[in-house]
Amino acid sequence: KILILDFGSQFTQLIARRVRELNIYCEIHPYNHFPEVDSTVKGIILSGSPYSVRQEDAPQFDFKPYHKQLPILGVCYGAQYLAQHNGGEVQPSSTREYGRANLQYINEASPLFKEVPSSSQVWMSHGDTITNITDNFEIIASTDTVKVAAYQIKGSQTYGIQFHPEVTHSLDGKQLLQNFLVDICGCHQEWTSESFIETTIAGLKEKLGDDKVVLGLSGGVDSSVAAVLLHQAIGKNLYCIFVDNGLLRKDEFESVLDSYKHMGLNVRGIDAKQRFYDALAGLTDPEKKRKAIGRVFIEVFDDAAHEVQDVKWLGQGTIYPDVIESVSVKGPSATIKSHHNVGGLPDFMKLKVVEPLNTLFKDEVRRVGRTLGIDDNILGRHPFPGPGLAIRILGEVTPEKVAILQQADAIYINNLRQGGVYDKVWQAGAIYLPVQSVGVMGDERTYENVVCLRAVESLDGMTADWCHLPYELLAKISNEIINNVKGINRVVYDISSKPPATIEWE
Ligand code: XMP
Repeated sequence: KILILDFGSQFTQLIARRVRELNIYCEIHPYNHFPEVDSTVKGIILSGSPYSVRQEDAPQFDFKPYHKQLPILGVCYGAQYLAQHNGGEVQPSSTREYGRANLQYINEASPLFKEVPSSSQVWMSHGDTITNITDNFEIIASTDTVKVAAYQIKGSQTYGIQFHPEVTHSLDGKQLLQNFLVDICGCHQEWTSESFIETTIAGLKEKLGDDKVVLGLSGGVDSSVAAVLLHQAIGKNLYCIFVDNGLLRKDEFESVLDSYKHMGLNVRGIDAKQRFYDALAGLTDPEKKRKAIGRVFIEVFDDAAHEVQDVKWLGQGTIYPDVIESVSVKGPSATIKSHHNVGGLPDFMKLKVVEPLNTLFKDEVRRVGRTLGIDDNILGRHPFPGPGLAIRILGEVTPEKVAILQQADAIYINNLRQGGVYDKVWQAGAIYLPVQSVGVMGDERTYENVVCLRAVESLDGMTADWCHLPYELLAKISNEIINNVKGINRVVYDISSKPPATIEWE
């Protein structure tokens, strides 16, 4: 495997994804919590950083034990850091070095640049530059403004590159990473979903033995894939719980429960609709609604978990990005969460936790799910928030409003599917607005509510752009909703991107 040392760059996760795309396993570790390096580690990559190596409080890392022992690749800050600590000098750049640049010179004999064209486009993003190097450095690439765009420290497998190979604007970045990982580190490109499944199931069997595990299914990708992996490892000792909170999409509870049963999972569906509606009655503040839903979910789940005798573990669909939240470069303990005070927690939260997906990125979870044979209907599903339709009904939630929104939402989503655009949209949903407006149907004047349609394109939900859905499709959806959903006489489309708007309205 490859260890990636995180100095806090926004691109660190991207480096990891590129390495994984080359079917090589890697892990991200904060610079101040670097793990023991054993014989399975084939190389180290040092990330960029929002800091400058010239700052007094810049993050430090003692690379000496690894230098000349293992291949090391420093990227941006990592490159400057290695240069500065090997007798080089780093100064603020005189010209802005941000964005696309083209290499002007490369040392074709360097294994790092094998099959990289000499004028390759690269992506720069830095305010400092390496101004001075000593005799033990060999420059292996330059641009017209950055002389030391890449270097190797002689007599070692330590490399530094000023640009970001992980960003797709560095057109040959993947080739360069492959050169480093395969040719220089000697990694085998064997980390596939098949190998992941095989080792994970074996590991789960060993860890869990005959123990029982409870797991909450949500209908989403992560919990479903986690459940299937656990099921393949421990079979009937996995007890799944799927709660109907009354805030799911139309017919979702029944159809998803059905898919789970078809997948052979031991799953119990619990109708808790009324408990959620009762808790939501009278609440209008979005955060209070969220808290009420979270609280009731815990109560319902805890009750259900108690019905499983002698359960030892809580299964969770946690994925890698939830685990690694990029390091806070400020303090050594920032990423460590401690739960010393477990006294007030519900019982299931005191169970030991098993998280079979906690080393995977979202697209990898999908790939594993596909290899496991999970239905595309579950794997390709849009993200859906835990509080469900409650945060798409502005103001107080009532069962009547839920029923209206479910109908409108179903018409919307079905049309996206039939129109062949569902898979191009990252997330879509209808929002019930607490606004009434005048309309006319036949000879009658109506005074009914407005439904807003939202569809966004996004990579991770952090930023998003509204989708330019075809007018004809929007027209068809609007018509169908107004003609079929009693209580709605107007449909609007949300054309705000995130930021400054959010994806959900609450
Ligand atoms: P926003 O509205 O913040 O949403 O742009 C970003 C993503 O997060 C989802 N979301 C939630 N998911 N509980 C969840 O499990 C929540 O309270 C919640 N609020 C927003 C939202 O659907 C989108 O995918």
